[in-house]
Amino acid sequence: MTDNLVLGIESSCDETAAAVVRNGTEILSNVVHSQIELHSRFRGVVPEIASRSHTTRVLPILLGALREAEVAPEDLTAIAVTNRPGMIGCLLVGIAAAKSLSWLGGTPLIGVDHILAHIHAGFMTRPDLALPCLSLVASGGHSALYHVRGPGDAERVGSTRDDAAGEAFDKGAAILGLTYPGGPSIQAAAKDGDPEAVKFPRPLLHKSLDFSFSGVKTALLYHLRGSGLTRPMPELSRAEVCDLAASYQAAIVDCLVTKLRRAAEQFGSKALTIGGGVARNELLRERITSDPVLSELEQVFPPMDLCSDNGAMVAGLGAHLFATGQVDDLRLDATATARR
Ligand code: KG4
Ligand code: ZN
Repeated sequence: MTDNLVLGIESSCDETAAAVVRNGTEILSNVVHSQIELHSRFRGVVPEIASRSHTTRVLPILLGALREAEVAPEDLTAIAVTNRPGMIGCLLVGIAAAKSLSWLGGTPLIGVDHILAHIHAGFMTRPDLALPCLSLVASGGHSALYHVRGPGDAERVGSTRDDAAGEAFDKGAAILGLTYPGGPSIQAAAKDGDPEAVKFPRPLLHKSLDFSFSGVKTALLYHLRGSGLTRPMPELSRAEVCDLAASYQAAIVDCLVTKLRRAAEQFGSKALTIGGGVARNELLRERITSDPVLSELEQVFPPMDLCSDNGAMVAGLGAHLFATGQVDDLRLDATATARR
């Protein structure tokens, strides 16, 4: 049997990424350019800046991925590209590059759902993942739970009603004067803090499988400036920042783990995977590992570079879609919203 070589292109947010994957799981290259430096002074991703950066980066990144994999464009079995959900201008850059390469070589083109690709990182890490599986995808733009029946087959069973978990980390860090992106900086500060110092709310804990994180962020702001923002921002000592970071992180992780546990019981999940930038969080991983209900499941934590945005997960899901005949053509378009 000849090798199946899929190029995956990702440009839905602030990473320009490309990867070559052999036979669905073997990552031959995985090249990522992060735009963090461009967006950090705005403490969030600025869509126009992001799409402009993708236009200058996409070709070198794509060629770099092919070169590193030692694969020529004509050897590719298919080209997979994220076409939803994401910022429309950003998605269009990856799609234009993928279409050009597809047209040049007559190579099949496959549009890939970014969220399903995050979930697919679990199947790339453990191809014989027990089913049904529960998957948490939590990043700067999304926070949702999925009941997964197989590769590319997932039903959303809960999602955030307001901010994404990563967004809550980013905004919390901004309030605390910590660097962007907020997840890693809050995690680092929390290491020296007391998670019990301040009891932040755990919204919607007793209801549904949905999340809500905007109230936690507001609670942090009100804790510092009074409800109604009546006080100026206080000067915080390093110890106070660490205590607040630890307490804030604990509240977000508590919400995620509680809903994971409830969903696992409700859907009879046999395995659990996590994806998206927030899946890099150490406390989240520890809490999942030590949870009495969740530790009964087969737990698959993809390696860190498969959690944040990358082209390998896109190529991996693309290989599955190709094998099942789900191929697109040059009419492939970008869609900003997630599938319901
Ligand atoms: O998936 P991702 O790389 O990009 C998208 O948003 O699509 O996720 C980035 C998000 C940011 O909000 C960042 O603060 C968060 O993931 N993040 C973390 C950690 N590392 C990144 N959140 C909590 N703990 C972390 N260690
Ligand atoms: Zn993502």
